Amino acid sequence: MRVAMVCLGNICRSPMAAAVASAMVAECGLAGTVTVESFGTAGYHRGEAADRRADAALRRRGWPAGGHRARQITAHDVMTADLVLCADRANLAAVRRLAPDHGDKVRLLRSFDPQVGVGDDEVPDPWGGDDAAFDEALALIETACRGLIGELAALQS
Ligand code: 4NP
Repeated sequence: MRVAMVCLGNICRSPMAAAVASAMVAECGLAGTVTVESFGTAGYHRGEAADRRADAALRRRGWPAGGHRARQITAHDVMTADLVLCADRANLAAVRRLAPDHGDKVRLLRSFDPQVGVGDDEVPDPWGGDDAAFDEALALIETACRGLIGELAALQS
């Protein structure tokens, strides 16, 4: 099972989501069956490391950080993934435009958050914000990833 986390630049939200989900996958003993990658819908930061504020937020919460290289998502990436989880609705629309026949597996990451609210179902972009904005984005990501991994674990058991 391949999970693709997607945001705009692939330097803030989706690298944090992939780091958190990968660590949870390993903790649940699913490392052999679930892989988690991340992508951006835009290519401006291709090849770059994660934003240092994203890595710092991960480390503050005890998650692994470092080693990321930004990638821009392609139609092939969508086709070969089993689940494509987008940080916000703009990313969701961009991914669906890229592979219109594969829309069923393209969802908002926070659709796995049991507390998700109407009109409050995105991970807001922290890029122009401060450290607190990164901490808030990471908290939303952690909750959604716990929901995701719970569902994946139930499927595998
Ligand atoms: P991300 O954040 O989509 O969470 O990686 C952003 C990073 C860079 C830009 C926008 C959002 N940018 O416009 O360069």
